[in-house]
Amino acid sequence: MKYNTLLITGGAGFIGSNLAVNFKRKYPKLKVYALDNLKRRGAELNLPRLKENDVNFIHGDIRNPEDLVLGFDVDLMIECSAEPSVMAGLDNPLYIINTNLTGTVNCLELCRKQKADIIFLSTSRVYPYKAINKIKTIETDTRFAWSPDQHIPGWSEEGINEDFTIKGPKTLYGATKLSSELLLQEYIANYGIKGVINRCGVIGGPWQFGKIDQGIFTYWMLAHYFKKPLKYIGFGARGKQVRDLLHVDDLFILIDIQVSGLSGINGNIYNVGGGKEASLSLYEATRLCREITGNKIKISGDLETRKGDISIYLSDNSKVAQELKWKPKRNVKSVLSDIFTWVRNNDCHAFL
Ligand SMILES: NC(=O)c1ccc[n+]([C@@H]2O[C@H](COP(=O)([O-])OP(=O)(O)OC[C@H]3O[C@@H](n4cnc5c(N)ncnc54)[C@H](O)[C@@H]3O)[C@@H](O)[C@H]2O)c1
Repeated sequence: MKYNTLLITGGAGFIGSNLAVNFKRKYPKLKVYALDNLKRRGAELNLPRLKENDVNFIHGDIRNPEDLVLGFDVDLMIECSAEPSVMAGLDNPLYIINTNLTGTVNCLELCRKQKADIIFLSTSRVYPYKAINKIKTIETDTRFAWSPDQHIPGWSEEGINEDFTIKGPKTLYGATKLSSELLLQEYIANYGIKGVINRCGVIGGPWQFGKIDQGIFTYWMLAHYFKKPLKYIGFGARGKQVRDLLHVDDLFILIDIQVSGLSGINGNIYNVGGGKEASLSLYEATRLCREITGNKIKISGDLETRKGDISIYLSDNSKVAQELKWKPKRNVKSVLSDIFTWVRNNDCHAFL
């Protein structure tokens, strides 16, 4: 590890806290700081774990440049702070713009001043929803699937790759993330810092305080475990919409590879997710959650498809697999089982 001090913004969140703990465990000499404003409900429950693992917590808000005057040197930042919900911002766009864009600019300024390199957690939502929903689908008993007979740049049955169009509305969440990506590329080009952008599909795993509009598969498992009702929303209300699912520890393995060879991949953008092999519909998630928990809960339907929602998203990992020899290790059942074990062994009841 060539870096001395890692700052993870959003470090008490799901991905941030898992990366912080994993980096500290693998590199005990690395100083790891987790900065978070604890806006996400449940983030506070990650604080004892950070402390136990010798990760220093800073209560700060990336929207305030003053909170990023740290008083110590940082040579690597992983930017994980965000309002990550696609539903957020609809009634308060300034909140999401300030958090996901102005906040990122403040983080980039810290990197510029301190000459710190950066890994940026972006999203598959930079790809526009209308273009994704235009890809023809067929319906199987348990899910939607893309029909094979199509020629669309950036698309194959494996998933969406980095050449897929970015033209068109993509939700405020996606737009603020894409804007941040553009600025990050300028900072890399102009200020001698190195960085990489990961456009992630759905990530899941322990210590994710999932909700209906973000962290859906963990939310599904929590609801099954605690026997709370659920709803299939939109697209016919039968739970056939599909996502790929990546375990957060598989994401750590990738980011560790990236950090160790940042010079060779500087400025690169990667689509990163579970991919076609680790994909599931909500209906399939229900079956797996029933099997794993032994609980069957009531699931109703809501026919109204939410604005900006998509019926299928699969990450095409070809580029990251080829360049970095990385591939997810865990299948969807093992991700869900891991979430189940975490819920069972920890007091997450207060959260739901
Ligand atoms: N989880 C996923 O499926 C997924 C998928 C694609 C991209 N991402 C991206 O990964 C990153 C982490 O997501 P996550 O799933 O861990 O979400 P999360 O909500 O669990 O973590 C985000 C953290 O940022 C903190 N935060 C929010 N606003 C802040 C601010 N102004 N200042 C400081 N901290 C602030 C929150 O309190 C929270 O702890 C985000 O950038 C998100 O866009 C996540």
